[in-house]
Amino acid sequence: MKCPSVLVTGSSGLIGSEAVGHFDRLGHDVIGVDNNMRREFFGPAGDTSWNLERLKRSTRNFRHYNLDIRDRAGVMALFEQNSFDLIIHCAAQPSHDKARDIPLTDFEVNALGTLNLLEATRQHSPEAVFILMSTNKVYGDAPNEKLLRELETRYDFADAADFQGIDETCRIDRTLHSIFGASKVAADVMAQEYGRYFGMNVGVFRGGCLTGPSHSAVELHGFLSYLVKVAVSGQTYQVYGYKGKQVRDNIHSFDVIRAMEEFAANPRPGEVYNMGGGRENSVSIIEAIERIEQLTGQKIACTYHDRNRKGDHICYISDLGKFKSHYPGWKVTRSLDAILEEMVEAQTSQLAKSA
Ligand SMILES: NC(=O)c1ccc[n+]([C@@H]2O[C@H](COP(=O)([O-])OP(=O)(O)OC[C@H]3O[C@@H](n4cnc5c(N)ncnc54)[C@H](O)[C@@H]3O)[C@@H](O)[C@H]2O)c1
Repeated sequence: MKCPSVLVTGSSGLIGSEAVGHFDRLGHDVIGVDNNMRREFFGPAGDTSWNLERLKRSTRNFRHYNLDIRDRAGVMALFEQNSFDLIIHCAAQPSHDKARDIPLTDFEVNALGTLNLLEATRQHSPEAVFILMSTNKVYGDAPNEKLLRELETRYDFADAADFQGIDETCRIDRTLHSIFGASKVAADVMAQEYGRYFGMNVGVFRGGCLTGPSHSAVELHGFLSYLVKVAVSGQTYQVYGYKGKQVRDNIHSFDVIRAMEEFAANPRPGEVYNMGGGRENSVSIIEAIERIEQLTGQKIACTYHDRNRKGDHICYISDLGKFKSHYPGWKVTRSLDAILEEMVEAQTSQLAKSA
């Protein structure tokens, strides 16, 4: 029997590289597409070539293409030369703060790049499962309308009905998204349409904070890994608004890929799922700083700015109920403490290597 063939875009990034490793270990042929544009967005700290080299060393059936997903002819040619069973689309301009400076590029990568891939899939691999890594920023700042209560170290939902967090019924229009959030809405809705209108096996995953040791962490993207990086290297962390009590739910890249694997085995065309660490893996900035200080034994220097990031969520926890009910075999397997321990270890060894 032919091994399923997997295409991963953004294959040198956090989620893409986890997908490459995972499906390669399962014996699939994996093609990765990544042009290291993260370096162009964020400078040398965003360079993902170290991760590509790591993948090349550690995989068996992985081929990498230095292709830009904005290059429609190049994307079409890739699909003409290969047939795919599973497409995991993670290539993106991922930062909402960065998008403000480059709205055209942001839209071309996030929205048009996604459409290029959807259309190439429709024309050449129409039976394939296509998973778009979307974001909770498609909800804009609508989650901030929830009634909140202020606790000593975090904000939390005041209403017991919101305890599990934000679900997929949260509206996605008439809110402040950021330019990034809006380009992701375009991609998210278009992907749903390829599922609903064309009946293709498309799934949309709206990420909370996705994290893991393979992130090329920068201040503008990668909350926990950047915080750990700052802690380990003795730099100063900038906290923007909400007294540092803003809450994020964090999920390890491994658990994201496991969720994708479940969807791929039993796809539901056009479905949308929130994907994060849920309440158990939620943490405020203050709490995260405290936990990392305990792990490293070192104080983290912080500067506090009164003004919050525009459109930033005050308390965001992904309600995972819908995904769990559709895919009962899936659960979050990596606790927040386990994630932090792994990241401290990874950052410490990376720092030692670069010293
Ligand atoms: N990390 C998070 O916290 C988070 C949260 C919610 C949603 N997401 C979404 O998940 C997806 C993956 O995020 P990530 O954290 O792995 O990001 P990442 O930046 O680590 O990986 C994205 C990769 O895509 C590549 N890329 C960018 N533009 C490209 C282009 N035009 N052509 C080819 N490759 C290109 C980059 O070089 C990078 O390696 C993104 O769509 C992001 O918006 C991430």
